[in-house]
Amino acid sequence: MKPIGPLMVEHRLIERMVALLRAEIKEIDEAKGVNVGFLMSAVDFMRTYADRVHHGKEEDILFKALALKKLEPEHARIMNELIEEHIEARKMVTALLDARERYVKGDRGSIKEIKELLLKIGGFYPEHIEKEDKHFFYPILEFFSKEEQDNMLKEFWEFDRKIIHEKYQKVVEQREQRRA
Ligand SMILES: [Fe+2]
Ligand SMILES: [Fe+2]
Repeated sequence: MKPIGPLMVEHRLIERMVALLRAEIKEIDEAKGVNVGFLMSAVDFMRTYADRVHHGKEEDILFKALALKKLEPEHARIMNELIEEHIEARKMVTALLDARERYVKGDRGSIKEIKELLLKIGGFYPEHIEKEDKHFFYPILEFFSKEEQDNMLKEFWEFDRKIIHEKYQKVVEQREQRRA
């Protein structure tokens, strides 16, 4: 398998979550309220899976290795755009969590904001993913030898392996801190 294989598999799951986020806009209108439980697990998905697991592999392993290569200006430009877009995605997800918290506290006005953010995130990810899948991953793969690609794939597996521990350690620590 090539190292872009797992990244593309992850894209497919992110797309499925993004479709659910878009569907949620209609659900909010129909239910005249927000499903705060679903939004919480969606934020967790976006933060843990889409950002930590997926953007983490892109930025901490793939882009880092790529920065050491003599890139074409076009590839360097796209890589910088992708990094900027990851920052943008983090901001949107944080805004969604904030709006959800205000809704939980009784602010009905935040419903409009939640719907706008769901629409924004729902539009953002398909474009970001398409840029990577169709215009970036294949051309940049050429910069890596077969051996480098195999090693990168191993680094990806190792990265994934650590995340589950990191994630639940954080869950325990955050609860402990709240109780302290
Ligand atoms: Fe990305
Ligand atoms: Fe990606």
